[in-house]
This record gives sequence, C-alpha cells and structure tokens, in this order.
Amino acid sequence: MIEAQGLTKRYGRTVAVNDLSFTVAPGKVTGFLGPNGAGKSTTMRMILGLDNPSAGTVRINGRRYAELHHPLRQVGALLDAKWVHPNRSARSHLRWIAASNRIPVKRVDEVLEVVGLTSVAGKRAGGFSLGMSQRLGIATALLGDPGVLLFDEPVNGLDPEGILWIRQFMHRLADEGRTVFVSSHLLSEMALTAQDLVVIGRGRLIAQTSTQEFIDNASESAVRVRGPEMERLHGLLTGQGLTVRDVPAGADGPAALLVPNASTEQIGELAGTVGLVLHELAAQRGSLEQAFIQLTGQDVEYQAGAGAPAGAAAAGGGTGVAVPPPAGEAPSGVPLNVPGGDAR
Ligand SMILES: Nc1ncnc2c1ncn2[C@@H]1O[C@H](COP(=O)(O)OP(=O)(O)OP(=O)(O)O)[C@@H](O)[C@H]1O
Ligand SMILES: [Mg+2]
Repeated sequence: MIEAQGLTKRYGRTVAVNDLSFTVAPGKVTGFLGPNGAGKSTTMRMILGLDNPSAGTVRINGRRYAELHHPLRQVGALLDAKWVHPNRSARSHLRWIAASNRIPVKRVDEVLEVVGLTSVAGKRAGGFSLGMSQRLGIATALLGDPGVLLFDEPVNGLDPEGILWIRQFMHRLADEGRTVFVSSHLLSEMALTAQDLVVIGRGRLIAQTSTQEFIDNASESAVRVRGPEMERLHGLLTGQGLTVRDVPAGADGPAALLVPNASTEQIGELAGTVGLVLHELAAQRGSLEQAFIQLTGQDVEYQAGAGAPAGAAAAGGGTGVAVPPPAGEAPSGVPLNVPGGDAR
C-alpha cells in the first residue's frame, strides 16, 4: 500500500508536484498517467525518499521510506533502466545491491532466472540492449521479494514481445497480492495493464479511479448502426429525438450512423418495431487515449506549436489540445504557460 497525502515538490519557482493525495492498493496494477512534465517521476522519487517533499507525506505500508529497515525487502523500483555501472556484469550489479540489504546471494540467480537473463548474467551490463536493461532493472526491483513495486515507464522503447512480457509480468505480481504502481505514456498499453489509474496533470491529481470508470466517464459512448435502408434508419432515429451522425465509409467499414448516448437494445428494438433490417449494430466505446486527452487537456505542460498535425487536436475530442509527445521524445513545441495553471 502506498499513501500520498498533500504531496508537494517545488524546484525553485517550479511546482513539480502540487498537493497530490492518492492511494495505491495491493493486489492490482495501478497505472500512473500524466503528460510530459506532469510530475510522475518526481512523485516516484519522493515515494522512494530520493527527493524530499516540500510539503505533505508519502508512506509505504504506513512508513516513510527512510523509516524502513531493509527497504529493498519492502519496496522495489525501476526508475531508470540505464542506471547501472556499465562495466559490471548483471550478476555483480545485483550482488552488491543484495549485500546492501542483507539479501541472500542465491536470490540473485533466482531473479535473473525470473526475468530471463541467466544466459547473459556474466556479461557487462553496459553492453545490454534497452530491453535487457529493463529486465535487469526489474530483477533489481524484485531482489528483496518486496510487496510494493514501482516502475517508471518500464515499457518505454520495448518491442511488442517485451511489452507483452512486462504486461503479463505485472499482472502476475499483482495476482500475488503485491502493490504495483507503474507509469506509462503508452495509453492503450495501460488500458490493458492497469485496473486502477492515478491521473495527474501539472502536478495535480486529475482522477483516481478504475480504468473502466475513467474511460466511461471521460469519453463518449455511442452505437454504430447500418443497414440497407440508411435513409429510413436515419429518419427513424432522429424521429425518436436521438442525435445521429453520418460516418462515411472508411477503414472502420462501410458508411454507417453513429448514435451517441443510446444503447444497442434501444436501437435494435426500434428497428424491429418497424421491420427495418440491420447489417450492423455495435456499441462503440471510448478509448483511454480519448479520455486521457480530454481530461488532461488543460494540464498539458508542453503543447505542440501551430505546425502540429491537424489530427492531433481532432483526436482530443474537440478540446483543441495537442497530443502530448510520447515518452523519450523531446516535446515538439516550446513550454507554454497554460491558462489556469499557477505552477510557473
Ligand atoms: N531536479 C529537478 N530540478 C528542477 N526541476 C525539475 C527537476 N526534476 C523535475 N523537474 C521539473 O518538474 C516537473 C515534473 O517533472 P517530472 O520529471 O516529474 O515529470 P514526468 O511526469 O515524469 O514527465 P515525463 O513524462 O516527461 O517523464 C517538470 O516541469 C520538470 O522540469
Ligand atoms: Mg518521468
């Protein structure tokens, strides 16, 4: 269990984390979402006692990190996969960390096996690919068999197989009853990985909710419907006071109608009463991407300039806010003072 209460971090005039309160419960994966510069890494560093909060507290299993006796046995973390001495082998890297927390040395080979690095255990960590480095970072986090695990962007830069492995691995850790807190920019990936979400923007809490609720609340759900008599169908639906949008033929399939705030049952029964044949009747759910952009729109630290692709704003559900750049990429625009923010 991780509990943050009024957590705040100022760097000079920058308020990186602003009065943030949330809890991360055991037994599930909790995603930590926010645009670039939102304060995710700063929050994780404060959880781990690497940065001191300017105000507020954060506790792991009821204690501050500094109060934990053998901290690696309670909490494991992967913040930066490349933070390894390049000339040490994977095994010797794990050995010194194990020794620092009185963890038996046989555990080193166990965690190397768990993450699939046994065959390269004697190789220089400096020569590892990003995927191998992420695995070594995860092995380090697991060394003390801790009940609480933190991962900062663990799937960043991984290939699809690596991403799938990490997703399944996180689920396994949560199923074992551990508290798993993981930040990521890969929203579609988070939708598959996290059951709960803590969403922040400009250092402030935007939402703490289940992933399902977050998507349901923030994005529009609609019914997609089509049949051989589209005009009659259109008239039938608008005649019932429903809003109907035409969807031209495209990648999603033939031309169809989109009916927001309706259910498939409602439309199916309506069509049935007048004997209208339907070829498609499907509930359209919003994506985590849409929900995220809608909710964090006002809180984006970096916005793309006028040269941003037109689709970026459109994808934001009309909020007019550009999609934040993926992790690891430089922001495509200059930092802006977003109206309403008091961080700078
Ligand atoms: N050591 C530091 N000194 C000064 N400012 C800092 C420091 N660390 C972070 N910041 C600032 O604090 C804010 C939050 O940064 P942080 O790295 O926590 O964001 P993030 O959500 O992890 O972003 P990203 O998605 O890009 O990793 C940013 O404005 C950043 O510039
Ligand atoms: Mg970060």
